[in-house]
This record gives sequence, structure tokens and C-alpha cells, in this order.
Amino acid sequence: MATKRVLTGMRTTGQLHLGHYVGALKLWLAAQDSGAYDCFFLLADIQALTTHADKPELLTKSVKEVVLDWLAVGLDPTRSNVHFVLQSQIPERSELSVLFTMIAKYNEVIRNPTLKTEMKEMKEITLGFISYPVDQVADIYMVSPTPPLAGDKLLVPVGEDQVPHLEYARVLARRFNEQYGKVFVPCSALVGEVGRLVGIDGQAKMSKSLNNAIFLADDSATVRAKVRGMFTDPKRIRADIPGETENNPLFIYHRAFNTNKEEVAELTERYKKGTVGDVEVKEKLIRVLNEFLEPIRERRNDLERTVDIREIIVNGTEAARRVCKPVVESVREKMHLVYPI
Ligand code: TRP
Repeated sequence: MATKRVLTGMRTTGQLHLGHYVGALKLWLAAQDSGAYDCFFLLADIQALTTHADKPELLTKSVKEVVLDWLAVGLDPTRSNVHFVLQSQIPERSELSVLFTMIAKYNEVIRNPTLKTEMKEMKEITLGFISYPVDQVADIYMVSPTPPLAGDKLLVPVGEDQVPHLEYARVLARRFNEQYGKVFVPCSALVGEVGRLVGIDGQAKMSKSLNNAIFLADDSATVRAKVRGMFTDPKRIRADIPGETENNPLFIYHRAFNTNKEEVAELTERYKKGTVGDVEVKEKLIRVLNEFLEPIRERRNDLERTVDIREIIVNGTEAARRVCKPVVESVREKMHLVYPI
């Protein structure tokens, strides 16, 4: 029978926000719930060091935060097809990463558009940072079905910014297979309807470092304050001026989270005509977001007291390691990294 696996991950740099939910977690939940895939959700703590090497103590706390957020939204490692995997605890993955750097060309890596954008915001750039797209290829293929059979699938559900990395992962898999013999099943990307969520300040991306995020663990008063201060249509200085809804963060959020589609359509129409104020649209959004976040907050609070995070990640990591070992073994063999006699 064909093997179907999902591998995806997040860097463990702190609490998760609504952008993580619509860009990634929503897809992850669908993959888990379909039951058709063995799912490996990676806590990328090594990759977190690409930007946080000076704050290693942050990692311990963040691994815990991310696991709690994952559980709170409904990822469920008590199911046999769901594994939470701690990147740093799989030495075979790191070995695979080094071996991929031997076929990854410097000029390809530095042309990566996501890497380029990220580099602009950084003062100093480490080699670890530049090579992270290659390291991520190792994350993905550590669970490549082996030996690869017809019909096998390796699916990677991610936010839009990760697409160049996945295209590159396909390039490297094909290059390896051609050069050394077939080991890898080239991965397929899966990007949702909302690949990326704007920040509350209207900047293209919600992000903790840009200070424009609504966190999954924010309480209702915090959500209220953040939405009240949200960037809307800057040209609309009075409620009776027709407004823009397409690129307006208020409406982007309504479209992403408000399940009452009629209300969204009605607000949009009135906003365009200039017959509704920002205050009303914001009040409704506050209600929508708090209704969405309340069960997540509740689960998070319960879990914080009851769940054994260590056990969850030890089990998930062991499952990934069992899968990874034979992959790396066949890579070693194909690359002639064996005792010569
Ligand atoms: N780079 C991803 C991010 O910043 C996280 C990540 C690490 C990842 N390894 C991965 C995503 C493997 C998909 C597959 O969000």
C-alpha cells in the first residue's frame, strides 16, 4: 500500500498568533482529521537559532508554548497518526542536512526570494541562516517513504512564504535521485486560501517581531484593545465616506474568521457605500475573534495544568527517528559513505 505522510513545522520562537492559524494550522488540522496521512509536526528548535542564537534560553519556553498552542487548536498527538517532533533530538536529520549541502548550490540558495526578504531585516547573517532552506529540506525528507513506491506521497502544508523552500526541496530531491539513484519522493506543497494574514497595523505579514499580532493566547480584553486600534482604510476620515474593503485588514479578518457570511457581505456593502462606521465593523470583529479564541484559550488553560508535554514530544520524536534512520542509511549507501571493505 502507498505511504502517505505529512511533514511540516514551525520555528520555536514564541507564542503563536492568528497568522499561524490561517496560514498553516488550519491546513494541518485538515490533514490530521482526514486520517489519510501519518502527520509529523516539527518543532524547529535548531532553525529557531537562525535568529535567536543569542537567546537560547528562549527555546525551552517556546517549545512549551508552541506545543500548548498546537494542542489548544486541536492537533492531537494521542491519535496514532499524529506526532510532535523535536528537531534537535534527531541526529540523523542533522546528518541528512549536511549531506544535502553537498548538492545544494550556493547561487541557488542565495536567490531564494523568502531568504532575501528575511535577510533585509537582519543586521548580521550567519552561515546557519543562509543554509536554513537546505536544512529544511532535510526536515522534509527525513520522513520520505523508503523505499519509494508508486503512489507514495509526502505533503507539506505551509504558509505562502514557504513555497520557494518547497520548490527547492523538489529540486534537491530530483537532483539527488538522478545523481545517486532513487531515494526520495519529491514533496508536494499545500497552501491554503489565506496563505498569509496581514498584521493589525496593515503591514503585509502578521508577526511577533513586527509587534502587529493577535496571539492565540490573548485574553478578550487584549483582543478588544488590539482590534480597536487596528489600521483600516486610511482615506476614510468619516463614516459617511465610501470605504475600501478588499485590502482593508478589518475586512480581511472578517472574511477569514467570521462564519456569518451574510453579516460580512452586508458590512462590506455598507462600508463601500459609506453607511457604516469603523467602530461597528470593529465591534463585530471583536465578537467574532473572541468567539473563535475562547475555546482555544479554555483548552490551553486546562492543558497547561494537565498535559505531559515531555511525553508527547519524546514519543513523537522517537516515531520520526524510526522513520528517518532507514532514509539516512540509504542516502549513505548511495553516496558511498560506508566502510570501503
Ligand atoms: N521555515 C518554517 C517557518 O519559518 C518552519 C519549518 C522548519 C518548516 N522546517 C520545516 C516548514 C519543514 C515546513 C517543512 O515557518
